[in-house]
Amino acid sequence: MATSAFESDDDADASGMRRGLTSYGDAGFSLFLRKAFIKGAGYTDAALDRPVVGIASTGSAYNPCHGNVPQLMEALRRGVMLAGGLPMDFPTISVHESFSAPTSMYLRNLMSMDTEEMVRAQPMDAVVLIGGCDKTVPAQLMGAASAGIPSIQLITGSMLTGSHRGERVGACTDCRRYWAKYRAGDIDADEIADVNDQLVASVGTCSVMGTASTMACIAEALGMTMPGGASPPAVTADRIRIAEQTGAQAVQMARDGLTIDKVLTPAAFENAMRVLLAIGGSTNGIVHLTAIAGRMGLDIDLDALDRMGRETPVLLDLKPSGQHYMEDFHKAGGMATLLRELKPLLKLDAMTVTGRTLGEEIDRAGPGFAQDVVRPIADPIYPQGGIAVLRGNLAPGGAIIKQSAADAGLMEHEGRAVVFENVEDLALRIDRDDLDVTRDDILVLKNIGPKGAPGMPEAGYIPIPRKLARAGVKDIVRISDGRMSGTAFGTIVLHVTPESAIGGPLAHVRNGDRIRLSVAKREITLRVPDGELARRAAESPVAEPTAERGYRKLFLQSVTQADRGVDFDFLRAPKTLGKVPR
Ligand code: FES
Repeated sequence: MATSAFESDDDADASGMRRGLTSYGDAGFSLFLRKAFIKGAGYTDAALDRPVVGIASTGSAYNPCHGNVPQLMEALRRGVMLAGGLPMDFPTISVHESFSAPTSMYLRNLMSMDTEEMVRAQPMDAVVLIGGCDKTVPAQLMGAASAGIPSIQLITGSMLTGSHRGERVGACTDCRRYWAKYRAGDIDADEIADVNDQLVASVGTCSVMGTASTMACIAEALGMTMPGGASPPAVTADRIRIAEQTGAQAVQMARDGLTIDKVLTPAAFENAMRVLLAIGGSTNGIVHLTAIAGRMGLDIDLDALDRMGRETPVLLDLKPSGQHYMEDFHKAGGMATLLRELKPLLKLDAMTVTGRTLGEEIDRAGPGFAQDVVRPIADPIYPQGGIAVLRGNLAPGGAIIKQSAADAGLMEHEGRAVVFENVEDLALRIDRDDLDVTRDDILVLKNIGPKGAPGMPEAGYIPIPRKLARAGVKDIVRISDGRMSGTAFGTIVLHVTPESAIGGPLAHVRNGDRIRLSVAKREITLRVPDGELARRAAESPVAEPTAERGYRKLFLQSVTQADRGVDFDFLRAPKTLGKVPR
């Protein structure tokens, strides 16, 4: 008897359109109904019998960093179909840094839940994740890690650089630099308006080593993109070619059963940590990597990251730690050039989405060539990894500093605390002429941690008080429980854990307290006796923020601290398998 086109046992081995049938209590009917509906879009049975590749589409008018998604989608579909698969795109949340209130980080976990549940709910044998802007790639990797099917990341790619009066500019290190000049009165309103036109010269992600570029490099280091997938700018033919290859590879992964757990291994995370340090990557990269690893039951060992940093120099000469932009990195060979240089420090047997190991991919990329963007290990941009992990009585759960973007003269510093209770307080007083502050003080901003703001906004880049900026001060030690943009620079201590909003020691710092920062000793110390801190805590107990309903309530009840990735506690893998590196 001929097998019915609607016969289905709805088991875990089902593939294509037979996967994950809607529950009507009759699997055959569920498949019959599904096919009837999809045929309404004109599909044939022959098309519906192919391996299905879902494509998580994050195009949005609110997200210019993903402005090339229509072109990428066309190339992806072509790649999937050339390889014999059926592409099925579907929308998910898209998050852009400048269009997400109160902050994009508040929405990252929501996007990860959307990605996970839609990948799980809809029939697909593999999924392509189109991400680029800061929170999108981590959200997608977190969601896909939990969903567990074969998954491959496609990066949207960086924007082109612009030109202001003969000077090359790009978002967003130059945004901050020019804004600081404007605040200091060095340029006028007309010039800052001209700059505004030039900073973002095309669609695509920020052109420096900010969080988006960091996560693109990390995704490739994790083995989650096609080789060379991190660096092509958004508007180039190379980017479109990567998209076509990504679509084809997704079909192969579906056929081979190359599920995400075979790629996101401890070795892959160790490689990603190494790359994060060597690129002078965004401090946000640590939080995101911790969250992705947590979905696989792995803990990123911050102290080990710090130890790795001492033997991993910054090699990539990109702003804000260096001089170049992402398009220069691409012309210099992209990640292949960096990985070749880092090879002795990498776990070469880590599997990638191609079905080959990272070591095999480095070898396939061939020999290097003369270029000046990726330095040799013997002549680095910065002798240690870009990020140092600090501990002390002010941050018992750790804090971090991007030492490669800090002022060398401030890395051993003791000063008087000038305290701002929250971002509103900061906005109100930072530019007042009567603010009691000198260049030797330490600015402290509270209540911008995961629960505090909420969402751990990138407000850790506290502006230089206007009166100091006018006096020519370019950097000052700043401390907070928040994050900062990967495109920012300065002697800035971030991610102080536990945060002030849940009663961490930061909550009890007062104006005039002495604070000592020693990056060499990896210490951040509040020079106030324990007894006095306990007295202050008893005198002014902290009331943790709450909400009455909705996503905000879920967020405040469930969000973890920075050392756990600021993920929701219920989204982490139920079982902890160990630490990375092992
Ligand atoms: Fe999207 Fe910078 S704002 S990458």
